[in-house]
Amino acid sequence: MRTLATPLAGLALAVLAACAHAGPGPLKDFDPPLDPAFAALIRNADLEAGSAYFERKCSQCHDGQKDGGNFKGPHLWNVMGRVAATHEGFRYSEAMKQVKHRWTYATLDYYLKDTEAAVPGRDMNFVGIEDDATRANVIAYIRNLSDTPPALP
Ligand code: HEC
Repeated sequence: MRTLATPLAGLALAVLAACAHAGPGPLKDFDPPLDPAFAALIRNADLEAGSAYFERKCSQCHDGQKDGGNFKGPHLWNVMGRVAATHEGFRYSEAMKQVKHRWTYATLDYYLKDTEAAVPGRDMNFVGIEDDATRANVIAYIRNLSDTPPALP
């Protein structure tokens, strides 16, 4: 029994893991479209809630001030519109270098929802923001960390 039970348990775990990561796959192979419902959440975002979330969860690693710089994570001023893994002076993972997309509403949404599924092997030690409205608030806040914020979607 024991010899059979162990591989079966392993198989069950593998199936569960595959389901948890079901989806269109990593950003390096996929250019996500912007979900219209998510675009509406960004237009109606609560910027104060986004700022508070950023302070609580992101600022331990990221500086968002214009005159700031790289920290544990790359400087996020002007991150929207920038190609992933291209901020000067920051040592990115090989995984992040393979993304090669610009950071847009759509790619930030996809990345910040489940960072490991979007960029397997990424260095950022943060799982993601599951709640759509919270993620939209944070991305709307990030939009303003810019010399020229992009148009709202
Ligand atoms: C524990 C530290 C840590 C936390 C917390 C964290 N990050 Fe990061 N972040 C990183 C690191 C390190 C990288 C570079 C990842 C790589 O090279 O794989 C990164 C990369 C990024 C990038 C890509 C930047 C670029 O130049 O390509 C974005 C966008 C980002 N983080 C946003 C966020 C947001 C928003 C939060 C909060 C919700 C957050 N991060 C929380 C460490 C962190």
